[in-house]
Amino acid sequence: MFIINYLNRQPLNIPGRKIHSNQNGVHENLSRILERNKHNKYLKPFARHTLEAFKKAEQIIGRENKPLILDSGCGVGESTLYFAKKYKHHFVLGIDKSFHRLNKNIYYKKSETDNYYLLRADLIDFWRLAALEKWNIDKHFVLYPNPWPLKKDLKKRFHAHPVFPDFIGLGAKIELRSNWPVYLQEFAFAYSFFSGRHFTVDTFIPKITITPFERKYVQSGQILYRLVIDNNKYASV
Ligand SMILES: C[S@@+](CC[C@H](N)C(=O)[O-])C[C@H]1O[C@@H](n2cnc3c(N)ncnc32)[C@H](O)[C@@H]1O
Repeated sequence: MFIINYLNRQPLNIPGRKIHSNQNGVHENLSRILERNKHNKYLKPFARHTLEAFKKAEQIIGRENKPLILDSGCGVGESTLYFAKKYKHHFVLGIDKSFHRLNKNIYYKKSETDNYYLLRADLIDFWRLAALEKWNIDKHFVLYPNPWPLKKDLKKRFHAHPVFPDFIGLGAKIELRSNWPVYLQEFAFAYSFFSGRHFTVDTFIPKITITPFERKYVQSGQILYRLVIDNNKYASV
């Protein structure tokens, strides 16, 4: 049983509940979409708020002058703070479009570290801008992205979006986590399509949980999946 949000007709990804989908493996249309995205550059004008957020990020990162970690779709930013503590010599940028989630962050108020920043921006534009400016990213985390598990919503998944070649062009060591293996299998498939390199999806049991979604999935006994892409810059994208 799953709940449909009738405003946009996608099943709500309620933390703790298992994902229900009418899709079992890589979507049959994914290759066709990737082929199209390979040849058609995404040219939609940038939203002003993300241009402003990007400018702000450039100022901060320029000032810090440290190897950069992106925590894309950071939600409340718990993982951003975790990475900042773990990678003390890096600067961690947590990005999310949800003002509500970013402002729910209760962790950083007590934080003993300042090598991170939480930024409100749309990742689709942000990744494109970062690729244009040839950002040098050391690690890139995408933890529990919205899965959009209905077949008809394929194009809403990050790897099927026309921005994906820019995402790959950012380079970095990438880590994705999800409770829906199909999302990661498709992501690996799309990555192989553009790079010719193959990656596998593994199950994992976190020693400590680093995001609210991860914690809820663990507490409800769900299996978690991880895709790690150790990526040297893929020059031709
Ligand atoms: C399922 S939540 C996971 C949040 C967090 N990583 C966690 O594990 O608790 C997915 C997050 O991605 C954010 N998100 C989805 N699409 C986005 C986009 N285009 N730009 C920025 N944030 C986005 C949502 O606002 C949401 O906070």
